[in-house]
Amino acid sequence: MLQQLDLIQQEIEQYHPNTLQELEEFRIKFLSKKGVIAQLFAEFGQLTPVDKQALGSKLNTLKQSSQEKYKIYAAQLQSISKQTAAANEDYTLPPPADKLGSRHPISILKDKILEIFEKIGFSVVEGPEIEDDWHNFGALNFSPNHPARDMLDTFFISQSPDILLRTHTSSVQIRIAESQAPPIRAISIGRVYRNETISARSHCMFHQVDGFYINKNVSFVELKQMLLYFLRSLFGEDIKMRIRPSYFPFTEPSVEIDINCMICNGSGCNICKHSGWLEIMGAGMVDPNVLKNCHIDPTTYTGYAFGMGLERVAMLMYQINDLRLFTENDVRFLKQFKADA
Ligand code: PHE
Repeated sequence: MLQQLDLIQQEIEQYHPNTLQELEEFRIKFLSKKGVIAQLFAEFGQLTPVDKQALGSKLNTLKQSSQEKYKIYAAQLQSISKQTAAANEDYTLPPPADKLGSRHPISILKDKILEIFEKIGFSVVEGPEIEDDWHNFGALNFSPNHPARDMLDTFFISQSPDILLRTHTSSVQIRIAESQAPPIRAISIGRVYRNETISARSHCMFHQVDGFYINKNVSFVELKQMLLYFLRSLFGEDIKMRIRPSYFPFTEPSVEIDINCMICNGSGCNICKHSGWLEIMGAGMVDPNVLKNCHIDPTTYTGYAFGMGLERVAMLMYQINDLRLFTENDVRFLKQFKADA
């Protein structure tokens, strides 16, 4: 056995693997469970104590040196193979495509709405989310004691002067109307804030779209026809529209717009409170006082205005039953909406 050990020692010393595959062959041949060294140890077990004493340390040295050799070559060959992989990399290839993300349902809806209004000549305008009392209330004909100004509804940032988080995007109408001469046809979309308890049906932060048109001889019929065009473009040709009288300080007359409930198709469900109709927007003819506040002569010009909450529409379109889902950023919710939808 002594002779055999010497031969194997020599063989190991002379073995110089050039590739990771050759190194693996080395491991299998000498170091694996059924390899040469394991066999030697098995035979060693059968030897007499005297022979064991003579051969033990030699056998151990053989095992250790071959393990050592394996480690050194493994480190060397692995670093060489990484370098050659890097050298063979084709840097002219396009990078692997990133996974496509999804778009927030509110962003999808916002783009749809903008596209519809841009087609009929509305320009898109933006206004600040931090507003003063004049643009959010005063110029819109809210009387000084109007309940909407109340602390319960509005998030005030400071008082005298009153600075607040806008409670509706109608404030943008004022900003545009006081800085431009008619004809003005504009639409604004953005976040609005109200001091409400967060629940499945109400939230302190949501989105609105507001639009208005000021020109000579703008009539209620134009408002009605434009809204019908808008609702048909958004919900499909079959949508039905219903107009009900309402009240807003900044429009006269004021109306509320309903559409037929597409969840139950009019047969009655929880969402439409068994009426077959869903209230979706407010509208009306711009109150002459609002025009005056923007230095526009109400004897020459008239206008219409409308406003709508986006979350409510998105809930209908995508059958979402909890407002809080829009702001929770839960990936399981968000990834259901396609990036190109
Ligand atoms: N600003 C109103 C709201 O927040 C909506 C509205 C806009 C109504 C324009 C009429 C005209 O409810």
